[in-house]
Amino acid sequence: MEKKISLDEITSFAKRRGFIFLSSEIYGGMAGVYDYGHYGVLLKNNIQQAWWKNMVLDRDDIVGLDSAIFMHPTTWKASGHVDSFNEALMDCKDCKFRMRADHVLEKFGFEADQMPLEEMNIHLDELRTEGKLKCENCGRTNLTEARQINQLIRTNFGQPTLDLKTMTQEDYVYPRGETCQGIYLNYKNITDTMRVKLPFGIAQIGKAFRNEVIARQFIFRTREFEQMEMQYFLSPEIMDEKYDYWKAERWAWYLGILGIPEEKLKWKKHDKLAHYAKQAYDVQYNFSCLGGFQEVEGIHQRGDWDLTRHAEFSGQKLDYFDQKNNKRFVPHIMETSVGLNRLVLAVLDNAYTVEDLGEGKSRTVLKILPRLAPVKVAIFPLQKDEKLKELAGNIYHNLKKEFVTEFDDSGNIGKMYRRQDEIGTPFCITVDFQSLEDNMVTLRERDSMVQQRVNVADVLSLLKSKL
Ligand code: GAP
Repeated sequence: MEKKISLDEITSFAKRRGFIFLSSEIYGGMAGVYDYGHYGVLLKNNIQQAWWKNMVLDRDDIVGLDSAIFMHPTTWKASGHVDSFNEALMDCKDCKFRMRADHVLEKFGFEADQMPLEEMNIHLDELRTEGKLKCENCGRTNLTEARQINQLIRTNFGQPTLDLKTMTQEDYVYPRGETCQGIYLNYKNITDTMRVKLPFGIAQIGKAFRNEVIARQFIFRTREFEQMEMQYFLSPEIMDEKYDYWKAERWAWYLGILGIPEEKLKWKKHDKLAHYAKQAYDVQYNFSCLGGFQEVEGIHQRGDWDLTRHAEFSGQKLDYFDQKNNKRFVPHIMETSVGLNRLVLAVLDNAYTVEDLGEGKSRTVLKILPRLAPVKVAIFPLQKDEKLKELAGNIYHNLKKEFVTEFDDSGNIGKMYRRQDEIGTPFCITVDFQSLEDNMVTLRERDSMVQQRVNVADVLSLLKSKL
């Protein structure tokens, strides 16, 4: 039977077990901004490292980059974001709740995805006249008309004497709305320094910021989020071939590395293309906590839009000389762009399991792949006893050099197992009084709960083989 997890359940689990907290909670919280606790950071880092290894370290045709969050403001003019990165929004004048006009119209059966603003407002006025248009938060009818709001966040970075209220578009500096722009700005640096030849890729992981309308989606849609993006530079003749290749590569990564079952994934072709895109597919994951399939990754053909525009706006040459064919041209770009926070949510959503143990008992277990698990092994002395603690402590210090390992001597074995099951620790080791005599400990496996006695001398090599 398909398991169902509510958004509330996963949100409270993530908080209770130290994965994810609402930002600034002691001040009432910040909508659409989240903090990652100890286990959340470990999980996020494991996913990030798995992506970096697969996309950069294991390949010869992709190099890495970590560009700054702030870029020259012209970047966003050239990229098209200042003019086109808009969302049609409407506000409740009473409670100040903000809604996306297309989402409001879609609830009334309109196909509003690509609808021009004027047409949206005509339909919204009709609904208003019929008394059907209400605030989704407070239920009152005092709503503004829809207007285009830019999703870039504005700052007076570098110009602290300027007041945001009186600043004009030319003065704004934006924290990046997508990480890939830093890649385009470094195209020349990388071709000049890294001995790369087409086709080649540049990959980076980093934060991006958008003025999103937040509709209770936990870490799925946030104002501050992390992207893992790879831009593959190529000649246009091989675009379709490479596009198919990358779609297959990324699909295999979800199955093989993240351990997501294939039936929980699907492709979605974009009907509405972003201003730069020529072709776009999303990888969607079937989020139980969000009630269905939602985008986790976009794979886009961006053509020569990005380099052409940055060349035009900067006055620099951003082309490529193909020595073999004695030809100079602007490379085209194929992009893979995935939200790291969405992957964290997908992995939690897929792994979170409540198992019925019979007799009214149940256990919550995070059935996560060992490579992604925040903690790999936990060691417990069975009871509060100095000799047990000493032996367990020795094993702990030995294993800690190899794996993320926890030590727990709180003494209640049931609670200690339950805590580790909930954070997804694949192996637990218990030291008991028998261990002091025969130097054997109990190794318990998370999913099967099968226990075996293992010699202390063999624990490290056994875990290495299993992990
Ligand atoms: N460079 C292309 C680009 O940014 P996008 O479709 O806007 O394309 C790519 O974003 C990915 O970034 C999405 O598939 C999603 O996983 C993630 N993403 C975008 N906006 C997000 C948000 N507000 N919160 C969390 N993740 C987001």
